[in-house]
Order: sequence, then C-alpha cells, then structure tokens
Amino acid sequence: MTASETRPLTAVRRFPSGFLWGAATAAYQIEGAAAEDGRTPSIWDTFSHTPGKVFEGHTGDVAVDHYHRFREDVRLMSELGLNAYRFSVSWSRVQPTGRGPVVQKGLDFYRRLVDELLAAGIEPALTLYHWDLPQELEDAGGWPERATAERFAAYAGLMADALGDRVSRWTTLNEPWCSAFLGYGSGVHAPGRTDPVAALRAAHHLNLGHGLAVQALRSTLPAGAQLAVSLNLHEVRPLTPSAEDREAARRIDTVGNEVWLGPMLDGRYPRELFADTAHLTDWGFVRAGDEATAGQPLDWLGINYYTPTVVSRVADGEPKPQDDGHGNSAFSPWPGADDVAFHQADGARTAMGWPVDPSGLEELLTRISARYPELPLVVSENGAAYEDVVGADGAVHDPERAAYVHAHLEALHRAVEAGAVVRGYFLWSLLDNFEWAYGYAKRFGAVHVDYATLRRTPKSSARWYARVARSGELHA
Ligand code: NOJ
Repeated sequence: MTASETRPLTAVRRFPSGFLWGAATAAYQIEGAAAEDGRTPSIWDTFSHTPGKVFEGHTGDVAVDHYHRFREDVRLMSELGLNAYRFSVSWSRVQPTGRGPVVQKGLDFYRRLVDELLAAGIEPALTLYHWDLPQELEDAGGWPERATAERFAAYAGLMADALGDRVSRWTTLNEPWCSAFLGYGSGVHAPGRTDPVAALRAAHHLNLGHGLAVQALRSTLPAGAQLAVSLNLHEVRPLTPSAEDREAARRIDTVGNEVWLGPMLDGRYPRELFADTAHLTDWGFVRAGDEATAGQPLDWLGINYYTPTVVSRVADGEPKPQDDGHGNSAFSPWPGADDVAFHQADGARTAMGWPVDPSGLEELLTRISARYPELPLVVSENGAAYEDVVGADGAVHDPERAAYVHAHLEALHRAVEAGAVVRGYFLWSLLDNFEWAYGYAKRFGAVHVDYATLRRTPKSSARWYARVARSGELHA
C-alpha cells in the first residue's frame, strides 16, 4: 500500500466538475504594442511616461509583448492545465480616443486571441475595463464626469457586437475601487489626481457606467451570456474590539465595499456612505434613477482577494501609520476616513509586503455568498508576488507561491463546504508583468518572464497548479 492510499480522505479536497481553473491578466500589464495598429494612449501610457510616477520610469510600451506572442502564451495556458483565461481589452486599441467606430486591426487582435483560446478548449473571460481609460476621455474630465459612463456603455455595446458570437463570459469593470480611489484620491495610479470629491464622483460614474454597460451588453449579446463585475472587496477587521476601532472598520467597509455592493447589487447606496462623506459632497451628482440603473441583475460576481484590511481609529493629533498596502501617498485613498489607520499583521508576507492570510478569503466568500445566495461567485484574482530568480539550472523554484495558492484554494474549498457558491478561481497572474506603480519590480506570474529577452519559463508553481487544475483535486 502506498502512502497516498493510506492518506485519510479529508486530505484530498475535490472541486466540482465544471469548476473554472483560470489565470488572469490585464491589457496594459502584458500587451505592449502601445502605438501599433491605431491604438491611442490611455491614462496609463501618460502616467507611466510621467517622471516619478512608476518605479524607475517603467512603462507598458513593450510590457511582455503579449500582442505579438499571444499564441505562445495560449500554449503556456494549455501547459498550465487552464480551462479559462481572464484578460482585458485595451479600450483605446479598439476604439481610439474612446469615441466613434471600432478599429478593425485592434479588434482583430482580440478575435485571434479568442479563437486561439477556443481552439485550445480554454474559455475566454473578457473584462472591458482594467484601468486604462483612453487619455482623450480623461482630458474631457475622466470618471468624475457622467459622460465617461455613457462612453463606456457605448464601447461595451461595440465589443458585444464584435465578440458576442464567441465570448459568453463578460466583466464590466475590474476593481473600480482602484480606478476611483487610487486614480483620483491617493493618486498612486493613473490619472494621478488627489481630490477626494473627484474620487467619489468617479465612484458613482463607475457604478453608473457598469449598469449602463450591462444594459448595452444584455441588449446585444445572445441569451445565456454571463455578466459580472470584479470587485476587490476588503475583508475589514478592527484592530481591537473597541467601539472606536469597530466604527473605523464600519466606515472602511462602507466606503470600500458598500459603495459598490450597494448600487450594483442592491440598487441603492447605503445612507451611511452619504453621512460619512457629507463634509466632502452632497452627492448631488447622483441623479434620480441612477442607483436602479447601476443595480442591473448579474450572473456572477468576481471577487479579487489578496490580504485582509486591518484598521484602527486614530485620535486627533496622534501620528498615523498610513501604509494601507496600496502604495505610499500623502493623500488618502479613503474619502472621509482620514482618522483611520491601516495595519499589516505580523507573520508571513509577500514581496508586496501584504500579509498572507487565507482566512480572509474564506470569510469573504462565505459572507458574500450568504448575502447573495442566488449569485455565484468566482475568485477572479488571487496570487502573490515573490522575489523569483532563475536558478543555475534555468528553472524558477517558487515554493512560497505554490504554498500561497494552496492555502487560498483550501480556504475557498472550506467556504464551499460552508455553503458558499463558488464557481472558479483565476490565479493572478499568468505571466510576470507590469505591476502598475511598481513597474516590473514585482513578479506575480506563474510563468517567469526575462525582461531582457522576453523569454517565458514556467515556474515550479505553474507545474503544481497544472496538476491541481487537471485533476480538480487539492492534496494536503
Ligand atoms: C489587482 C489588479 O486587478 C491587478 O491588475 C494587479 O496586478 C493585482 N491586483 C496585483 O496587485
């Protein structure tokens, strides 16, 4: 009898058949070809070319050249045993300047990518917006302006028209929290504005844009299309059980999570959000009917999870640790929560400095699934950056990444055992890539990329993940 035959059954966690085993990427982080075939700049082109904004002046001009190497990358996905792949469309590649008709060449790239995926038996999961607003739309005011939401819906309709015959899984926005609050609040992301009122206006117009886009997709896509949004929901924990810290947690939960869940899933902003931010704005930009428009029925919800959010209340005059894990800025990304401090727990951390704590994923999935029992969840991102190096043998050994993913898949499975409806898991990321303000300094890939040669080398975690994905089993 072998060791595995004597292992107790509980040592094997089985995932349901049909479970999506995926990996995720985003256009600006991998494509490169920034000025090819009619693509115009997005806010991330402008931002990354602005001195001082991105680590060592890195840009996505070439990125990992996925635009030219997508066939090789789809082959890598097959090696990883993936049955799904989540990617985003560069808006300014298919609709330069964010207005007018689509550009055939840009669109053809996504057609070819999707065809390649389908031929490999990999389900495409398309995200319309992963942070790269066409620069012209930012010049016209960006997400703080209502017109951007309307432009986004028009773009969604064009994409549905073009790819609706071959893509059935669609996501409107990726992590609108980052677009609104890092882009317009703390300014560590493009377009780099630091105005809490603009950040709240952006949040509303992202909610509205999501709802209008869902309407446009529904009216264009064939019946059965699976529509979603991907949210980086914060698992917010008070540092201590004190009333002050619990109130800090409530406020961060409101402006971090309910600001999206309210309108998008409940069709209504929580009134606490308006009260908490009343000193900044009267929310007069929310028009009658907007909340209902944002609250279109969805077919699944994507949740991106990396680490929990631990908060405390800071008394007036007390110094405040401001590391919330989202990059350093003198400006808070949390409108109306200036007296909240963020804490990183002791213990294991990734190269981002983010504590490794899978219990947050289990709690999040359990709680959100209990709140929306009819709405299947998908972990649309989870993963870790580590300081990966190519060894003398040419291989990359990253046991920490496999351990991180293993622990989070266990947490996902425990949530399912507790009743959560979770249909898939997308590893962030397929390849090492442009990690926004950190440039190429942080490696999240299952596949290593040598940035000098663009050579791809699957890391040891990729081989481990392939075994899990192919078998649908996680062994303790
Ligand atoms: C969230 C984002 O969606 C993705 O673009 C980013 O690279 C990862 N998390 C890691 O920070």
